[in-house]
Amino acid sequence: MIQLENISKTFHTTVAVDRLSLEIPTGQLCVLIGSSGCGKTTTLKMINRLIEPSSGTILIDGVDSSTLIAHDLRRTMGYAIQSVGLLPHLTVAQNIAVVPTLLQWEKPKIEARVTEMLELVGLAHLAKSLPKSLSGGQAQRIGVARALAADPPILLMDEPFGAVDPLTRERLQREFLALQQRLQKTVVLVTHDMNEAVLLADRIVLLKNGRIEQDGTPKDFLEQPISEYVEDFMRMTRR
Ligand SMILES: Nc1ncnc2c1ncn2[C@@H]1O[C@H](COP(=O)(O)OP(=O)(O)OP(=O)(O)O)[C@@H](O)[C@H]1O
Ligand SMILES: [Mg+2]
Repeated sequence: MIQLENISKTFHTTVAVDRLSLEIPTGQLCVLIGSSGCGKTTTLKMINRLIEPSSGTILIDGVDSSTLIAHDLRRTMGYAIQSVGLLPHLTVAQNIAVVPTLLQWEKPKIEARVTEMLELVGLAHLAKSLPKSLSGGQAQRIGVARALAADPPILLMDEPFGAVDPLTRERLQREFLALQQRLQKTVVLVTHDMNEAVLLADRIVLLKNGRIEQDGTPKDFLEQPISEYVEDFMRMTRR
């Protein structure tokens, strides 16, 4: 369970996140959505402490995350980002092995896990390739495989399917959904795309100016948008 209690983040004079409270139960796939600059990435990065909150508390399974060592915390959370961030000098297999290696897993266990992850995302033949030889969609799948490699209970994903064409995106979304139904991770996924949110989410949180505008199921958003702002957002993004 992830609990944000009255979290704020101010950059100089910009209030990026404004007294946000949010409780994400274990096993829930929660989508953060909203227009550019509403505070999605900042919120996500405060959960793994790439950004420290200006005020407020974040609890992970009841433990105040500010009392943990940040890089220990991050190893318990898979992180997939739009720009993927694969290390260019390492092969695909070595990229997937990064966190298990940091966790000092034994070599045979790491190798078995890398093989399993590559099969999971259907890219076993690319194990020895370098990131520069991958297509955008392949790189994103490797990014997701890497985020899952150490089997973290929590997955943070920032527009993980953003960089691919609509057809590939839809396939990746369906693959991810099937995977999540099996793995039941606690997932916080950021997107601009309401179609993606409706397809994937157990719950959607729409942010506006660093605050929650609406929090509900996809059905709530489709049937009962609570404001004109949400209605407009649904109209613009719904297929
Ligand atoms: N490092 C930073 N320094 C100064 N301002 C920042 C910084 N990071 C974010 N901001 C500001 O905080 C606000 C929220 O940014 P954030 O990146 O969280 O938005 P977002 O919802 O992820 O947007 P997008 O959909 O464009 O990725 C924006 O006004 C942004 O300009
Ligand atoms: Mg962002």
